[in-house]
Amino acid sequence: MALREILHYPDPVLKQKSLPVTEFDDELKQLAEDMVETMYDAPGVGLAAPQVGVLKRVIVLDCSAKDEPEDLLIAVNPEIIAGEGDSCEEEGCLSVPGFWAGVPRYSRATMRYQDVEGNTHERQADGLLAIGMQHEIDHLEGILFVDRLSPLKRSMFKKKYLKMLKEREEENEA
Ligand code: NI
Repeated sequence: MALREILHYPDPVLKQKSLPVTEFDDELKQLAEDMVETMYDAPGVGLAAPQVGVLKRVIVLDCSAKDEPEDLLIAVNPEIIAGEGDSCEEEGCLSVPGFWAGVPRYSRATMRYQDVEGNTHERQADGLLAIGMQHEIDHLEGILFVDRLSPLKRSMFKKKYLKMLKEREEENEA
């Protein structure tokens, strides 16, 4: 297992669409293992392959609370096949560090996906996991949560985020 580097906004790779996985081989298993390790190390509750620079349709999630057992979900070629209800919870993203915002999502969703062996499963969820599934699948389409904000909120984000990046650069230079 190995940690992979997480790409940060505005890296152009994050805007690209990922390709379906067709080979359920050792390379896929290695990618999934590395993504799990990278997610827990960050720490984060979800990670999509494009965030580590791999344009394949693979996501990992563990939205369990601290006092709950692990609930690791590795999903290949995931898709939301049903969704209902409205929610607008604060989201963050390992690729957009230091910024959180409410994003409109389904409050309950069903995801169909394959495991690393290629077997098909369905998982129905609400709460944080339902939101996480939608957030991570968005990554596979090249969509970040900040892309789903209103134009006003998005321009506020850009200003704030670019200012933060600049301040960080200046700190590194000092
Ligand atoms: Ni994210």
